[in-house]
Amino acid sequence: MASKEEKLQSRAVVPGTFDPITVGHIEVIKRVLKVFDEVIVGVAESPRKGNGPMFSLDRRIELASEALKDYKNVKVIPFTGLLVDFVKECNARVIVKGLRAVTDFEAEFQMSALNYRLDPDLEILFIMSTPENMYLSSSVVKEIAYHKGNVYGLVPEPVGRALCEFTGCEYTEE
Ligand code: PNS
Repeated sequence: MASKEEKLQSRAVVPGTFDPITVGHIEVIKRVLKVFDEVIVGVAESPRKGNGPMFSLDRRIELASEALKDYKNVKVIPFTGLLVDFVKECNARVIVKGLRAVTDFEAEFQMSALNYRLDPDLEILFIMSTPENMYLSSSVVKEIAYHKGNVYGLVPEPVGRALCEFTGCEYTEE
């Protein structure tokens, strides 16, 4: 039987702003599920990110939950304070983040160093994006949507519909 310690190790938190969730995020979450028994998707309020998120925290939670509804070992939970506190509240010790390109590295390196400083018991792991999703981010999706381009294939369908409502962009299979 697994010890309490082992059980804690089998839960990972995948944090982010998810404004909105993309197929790249889903790919990362699916791969984290191959390694951990349970994944908690922590959706940060992130009020100060850029000009503020496009979607409210409630709407981001709704869209992420809808996109991940088929994965029974995934829970989508909002958080407003520090990530390290949220991870503790989740009774977890491992954070996993996707890493797309060298450009992500600097910010992630700084954030993980600070998170380790705030809580040395944490482990922060990175998973490399697949080549197909290396270029994909919520920001590029929003940029395409704002310019009324087609976001098909970049985001799950409910997110595509939400983006179309918001920006008048397209979500059409080519
Ligand atoms: O998807 P993002 O925007 O790159 O995710 C960044 C996120 C939400 C993981 C990060 O900003 C975060 O952890 N926010 C919560 C506040 C916090 O703990 N900041 C880091 C202290 S160094």
